[in-house]
Amino acid sequence: MSLLKVDRLSKKYTKNVQALDDVSFSVNEGECIGIVGESGSGKSTLAKVLVGLESYRDGTVLFNGIPILPKKRDLLRQFRKNVQMIFQDSTSSLNPKLPVWKSILEPLDNFKEVSPSFLNIKGLSRKEIAEELMEIVGLDRSLSERYPEELSGGQKQRVGIARAISIEPLLLVCDEPTASLDVTVQVQILRLLKELQKTKNLTILFISHDLRAVSYLCEKVIVLKDGRMVDSFGLADLYQEERHEYTKALIKAASLDR
Ligand SMILES: Nc1ncnc2c1ncn2[C@@H]1O[C@H](COP(=O)(O)OP(=O)(O)OP(=O)(O)O)[C@@H](O)[C@H]1O
Ligand SMILES: [Mg+2]
Repeated sequence: MSLLKVDRLSKKYTKNVQALDDVSFSVNEGECIGIVGESGSGKSTLAKVLVGLESYRDGTVLFNGIPILPKKRDLLRQFRKNVQMIFQDSTSSLNPKLPVWKSILEPLDNFKEVSPSFLNIKGLSRKEIAEELMEIVGLDRSLSERYPEELSGGQKQRVGIARAISIEPLLLVCDEPTASLDVTVQVQILRLLKELQKTKNLTILFISHDLRAVSYLCEKVIVLKDGRMVDSFGLADLYQEERHEYTKALIKAASLDR
């Protein structure tokens, strides 16, 4: 069974903006799927629907066979435990009043019943647990007392990743997690995600306008244009003649063409 199954999903905002139009795809456990498309193609809308932050009327979204319905609070709590999101703008997703270590512990505080299998937390203080998580994402422990404004963009993004993986989600939805970072830091974050995917068997939905980043991380790619899925393929078929014209244009724009 697919971990995530999206079937004929459409989403209209008011003023008749058709942000998503008949989108269907599925994601198996341990897979990394990339979603690419230009600005306004519906990527963030899709991410928000998938994490239960945005409602939808048409189509179905199933996670582990259970529908994601933003209005069912109990189901949503269970679901939040299994699906975490990393946002493009790490600044607005971190509480400016909390030092790094407290920010990192927020999800574990919300789900006290969870203890991540990759951490031996016995005998550790709460702060030490946060510091262990910092190490996993390549952040120096000495930064634990800092506030978000005292961190670089890349460091903040790592805090976001540490938070997200702390409760060992089954699915990680990343909405342009590297868009605000410079190229070397982008590569580091992509490497980190790839390593986490492998070592923790994470399923990742990676959203980006950058086909280069997607082709580094993901084995399957979905292309969105004006809310419609115009192409979907395995990475090995990136250069096949049957690719949609729009995909070819993205390949060219990313200077990936041969
Ligand atoms: N809350 C909203 N109300 C009305 N329209 C919206 C809302 N959010 C997004 N839209 C519109 O829906 C469409 C898809 O937006 P979305 O944010 O999903 O695109 P995106 O692919 O994430 O773009 P970007 O790459 O710029 O982040 C756009 O036309 C946008 O203007
Ligand atoms: Mg977006």
